[in-house]
Amino acid sequence: MRVAFLGLGIMGHAMATNLAKAGHEVTVWNRTPGKMVEGAGIAPTPAAAAQGAEVVWMCVSDTAAVEKLLFGPEGVEQSLAEGGSSNVIIADSSTISPSATVKFAERLRAKGVDYVDAPMTGSKIGAANGTLIFMVGGDDAVIQRLNPLFAAMGKKIFRMGETGKGQATKLAMNLQIALIFEGFAEALTLATKLGVDPKQLVSLIEATMVRSGVVEYKAPFVLQRDFTPNFPLRLMHKDILLTLEAAKEARVKLPALETVEEIYDLATEEGQQDLDYAATLTLLEKWAGVLVKGEAA
Ligand SMILES: NC(=O)c1ccc[n+]([C@@H]2O[C@H](COP(=O)([O-])OP(=O)(O)OC[C@H]3O[C@@H](n4cnc5c(N)ncnc54)[C@H](OP(=O)(O)O)[C@@H]3O)[C@@H](O)[C@H]2O)c1
Repeated sequence: MRVAFLGLGIMGHAMATNLAKAGHEVTVWNRTPGKMVEGAGIAPTPAAAAQGAEVVWMCVSDTAAVEKLLFGPEGVEQSLAEGGSSNVIIADSSTISPSATVKFAERLRAKGVDYVDAPMTGSKIGAANGTLIFMVGGDDAVIQRLNPLFAAMGKKIFRMGETGKGQATKLAMNLQIALIFEGFAEALTLATKLGVDPKQLVSLIEATMVRSGVVEYKAPFVLQRDFTPNFPLRLMHKDILLTLEAAKEARVKLPALETVEEIYDLATEEGQQDLDYAATLTLLEKWAGVLVKGEAA
């Protein structure tokens, strides 16, 4: 398929690479020039990338960035205005606001363009290995047309309902990741302060019903005190804020997440936004006056 891929960050670069490897005709665009994908062409603007594409796939940071890519002065909409937009599908793998997604889709549908929200989970490693899991909102027939692209980038898709439901699901998923990791970090901090070996605690967690995918994935990094970003703290903070906003719109109270948000706020004040979100542990350590000592510590 002819695909325009917009946004070559940690996730987008690997996803576009896998599309090109699978033999799709890929043209990429990234805000900061200089990023390349082997086997793909480069376009100077989102509109130029979208010209002649069957599918425009986006993977950028936040709602404002997606809005700019679509409707900004050099946005995708400009290429659609020249006609030939029917049958074009726009897919968004960024994690953004569900209600904004619905508005974007309505505006584009008026131009004959189909819109699918397809946020994903699997982190940097899943993107690199092509084993992402997508949670998708949109029309079934349209999603089916995207199957060859999903297959190149991921291992499974879950259809969650109409447009916007993929994003709503993603927020419900990241809410859990944020809370599970916070529980793990608090447990490590308390156990260390009480004189328990954190490595032993992790072994115990893994042998019991307390285990989780989040802990399994994060524990090796945490025990080695490796906070290089797989999922940057600033993006998890963005997702927590999006979730609280969606909850407010829906009149749902999320007291635990509100508390965790304060920790991300403080971590940001401490300049940790570009570290992995696991770096939130260091605040707990500071307050407790301990260091969780793992393998390389
Ligand atoms: N990393 C993960 O584990 C993970 C997992 C699931 C979902 N996600 C979601 O996937 C999305 C991308 O994540 P990532 O980890 O790839 O992020 P990232 O490495 O920070 O990359 C962000 C991308 O967005 C672009 N961008 C940011 N603001 C922009 C703007 N105003 N206009 C145009 N482009 C803009 C950046 O361009 P520049 O190069 O110019 O900065 C870059 O290409 C986010 O919504 C994130 O929440 C991430």
